[in-house]
Amino acid sequence: MTEGRLAGRRVLTGISGGIAAYKAIEVVRLLTEAGASVRVMMTPEATRFVTPLTLEALSYNPVAADWLAPQGVGESHIALAEWAEVIAIVPATANTIAKLALGIADEIVSGTVLASRAPLLVAPAMNDLMFTHVKTQDHLNALRSRHAVVVEPGVGRLASGKSAVGRLAAPERILAAIEAVLQDRRNLEGLRVVVSAGGTREAVDPVRYVGNFSSGKMGRALAETAAARGADVTLVTTVPTNPEAIAEIAVTSAAEMLVALKTACAGADVLVMAAAVADYAPDQVAGAKLRRTDQPMDLHLRPNVDILKALGPRRGLFRVGFAAETEDLRAQAEAKLAEKHLDLMVANQIGVDGQGLASDFNAVTIVAPTGVVADVPRLPKWEVAGQIWDAIDAARNRGG
Ligand code: CTP
Repeated sequence: MTEGRLAGRRVLTGISGGIAAYKAIEVVRLLTEAGASVRVMMTPEATRFVTPLTLEALSYNPVAADWLAPQGVGESHIALAEWAEVIAIVPATANTIAKLALGIADEIVSGTVLASRAPLLVAPAMNDLMFTHVKTQDHLNALRSRHAVVVEPGVGRLASGKSAVGRLAAPERILAAIEAVLQDRRNLEGLRVVVSAGGTREAVDPVRYVGNFSSGKMGRALAETAAARGADVTLVTTVPTNPEAIAEIAVTSAAEMLVALKTACAGADVLVMAAAVADYAPDQVAGAKLRRTDQPMDLHLRPNVDILKALGPRRGLFRVGFAAETEDLRAQAEAKLAEKHLDLMVANQIGVDGQGLASDFNAVTIVAPTGVVADVPRLPKWEVAGQIWDAIDAARNRGG
């Protein structure tokens, strides 16, 4: 799926010495799989966590781990600095972040960054108390003010055994952020984005629900892409599969989703409603598990809350809806756009094999109040998400 996306792009990966160094292996693997040309440099401490040999085998290039090594052994820091189109420090320890912020150059990673004018990306990973320390935050802010991209760490189990902030962002997310830097697509910087994803589940009894086939993949791709392009993202989802990736709020029913979205949307700039909200919910939720009998069973359903309508239009909030249709795609999309007072509607044809609900692929038509703005052919959801953000960005810039 990722084949060739980064073909010919030159990515210099710097590994610093923390336990998350082993995860840099996966980032390097994903980069080469996407077609990028990858060089790796390691601090002396990093080589104690993972071996240069492993990185050499995965990057297909010599690894620079000793900047005082005689010429011919690895690359010099100056050659690497000039070669790089982007430098990604994965993981970035508190010590390396401090050195980069202050301009200290005492080993190959910090020395190369100082000698390079390539865009810099840092993916911090460390103990939560070190991460939240005012010094580390000051150093990260100093790097941000110099346009470095910080791929925020997630909350999760740290080496100390405690679950807290400081865990390296998921490798896929680091890859997406590197890709966004290479494509100069940091155009959502500072934008506050809320995405809803997945199908809602409406309880019948404590063990059963009425639901739909939505996998939440389109919404997740939209959230990940927005984060990679610099947005501050909240994902409200019924399928919280990757809690370390972005700020996720897990919900089950439409009623819960509405409550979560009301809070998340306060102060947001864009709402993308990719969730498949159940239009009907059981009228009564049984308190105890329903027993099987030999008689047919009637389930009485009542109309569910319409979340987009309940949230209503709000000045300054750009609202995007999704329409999954089996027929009259465009007419239905235009009608729903008008009815729900949306700024954009993303319509996808369902009932076509290999795309849409639960698939990794999608094909969509993007409709604005002025008419169709884009027809996106069948592509991986990841790429469709990129085109949807392009359309959102263009529409917002038009003031629409
Ligand atoms: N939506 C919502 N609340 C609902 C149903 C849908 O906010 N109860 C949102 C969806 O997330 C989507 C958009 O409205 O962004 C359109 O969803 P869709 O189900 O296609 O529209 P409906 O108005 O429910 O129309 P239909 O009768 O075709 O199901």
